[in-house]
Amino acid sequence: MAKFISFCSQKGGVGKTSITTHVATYYYQVERIPVTVFDCDFPQHSLQSIRTSEIARLKSDETYLRKAEKLGQIPYPIYADSLSNTLPKLDAYANKNELVLIDLPGTLNVEGMPAMIQRLDAAVLLLEADPLSFESTMHTVLAMAKFSNKTGGMIPTYLLWNKFDSRERKDRYSSLELAAIDYLNSLNVGRSTPLNVQFIEYRVPETVAIKDTRSTLFPSSVIKPLIQELNKIFASNTATV
Ligand SMILES: Nc1ncnc2c1ncn2[C@@H]1O[C@H](COP(=O)(O)OP(=O)(O)O)[C@@H](O)[C@H]1O
Ligand SMILES: [Mg+2]
Repeated sequence: MAKFISFCSQKGGVGKTSITTHVATYYYQVERIPVTVFDCDFPQHSLQSIRTSEIARLKSDETYLRKAEKLGQIPYPIYADSLSNTLPKLDAYANKNELVLIDLPGTLNVEGMPAMIQRLDAAVLLLEADPLSFESTMHTVLAMAKFSNKTGGMIPTYLLWNKFDSRERKDRYSSLELAAIDYLNSLNVGRSTPLNVQFIEYRVPETVAIKDTRSTLFPSSVIKPLIQELNKIFASNTATV
């Protein structure tokens, strides 16, 4: 069965494209899992632009080309299109053993978004430790709670800190997490369908390595701890508050 996963946020610049790219490339090149990426973040299509510039470099830089040849497999496909055009294409993946990553637009108010969210096996909401990002993520959780998957429950939703600042007092993140869990638990009271939300333990650090090694061709170990945790999550695919 294919897994349809999206790293998303309703705020730009949180790291959707960067994390999606790292995760896609690591799964494909290191874990050797078939991967397809749909870049539905119209009109930027920045994930596809990364690939386009890498292909251009392959043509002009022979050392780079040789390094790419050593990877031993052609790169995973990236399709850039609108949500509405992408949706019907997903059916073809349903019975494949494939990881399908979808870079979504930064707003839920887009045609095709409800149908797309309902297709997801998991959504990973990225957040940063600033009040705006935090609040916007809580709003996104509430918006996500309105959608349900084929079994009638909320799409398993995970919260992932990106740009984690290790110099910050650790408490800042932990207390924000506790506040979020309290808040989400309070929302659960009296709900017929419980929220299905959980923090990912690993926090992606703020580091230039994330920028410098972001590639649709070459994997980077900078993302390895996240992959290890995602493996467990994707295997069980159950989130709980
Ligand atoms: N963990 C990180 N550490 C350092 N820079 C990051 C990190 N994650 C993302 N960035 C940078 O933040 C900017 C926005 O990231 P991007 O992935 O384009 O966000 P989005 O797709 O959500 O708009 C980019 O310049 C990217 O390199
Ligand atoms: Mg983006």
